[in-house]
Amino acid sequence: MSRQVGMGVAGEIEPGQRKRVFVDGRCVVIFNVDGEIYAIDDSCPHNGASLGNGELEGCVLRCPAHGLRFDLRTGRTPGTGGLSLTTFAVATVDSKRVLILDEHDAAPANGTGGNAAGQPEAQHCATRQEK
Ligand code: FES
Repeated sequence: MSRQVGMGVAGEIEPGQRKRVFVDGRCVVIFNVDGEIYAIDDSCPHNGASLGNGELEGCVLRCPAHGLRFDLRTGRTPGTGGLSLTTFAVATVDSKRVLILDEHDAAPANGTGGNAAGQPEAQHCATRQEK
């Protein structure tokens, strides 16, 4: 079973930009890479560092803490199949961007947020958008 969490208006993250949002008690980083949208958990699977400021080369993100690299398309380290990021599917529904959460992705409900349709809305972890 999965559910959708609103993340704002589609197109608000321009190519080359990224944005952090707060969803169900976790920080998610949204990337626009050449028009393709990718969403990952902000926590590095190696030791929990924030990945939101990692250097991005194509679709490969380098963790700023120890330099492990992860392919945003698969969540995996390129070529080795080692550690894997938590990735989330993103869809556009009625001109709004939504994050698709599977049951195992969901953190315990915190009772915050929601839109007029009764669907939860993502909240920004940080107020800035980064290139
Ligand atoms: S915490 Fe990311 S590589 Fe170590």
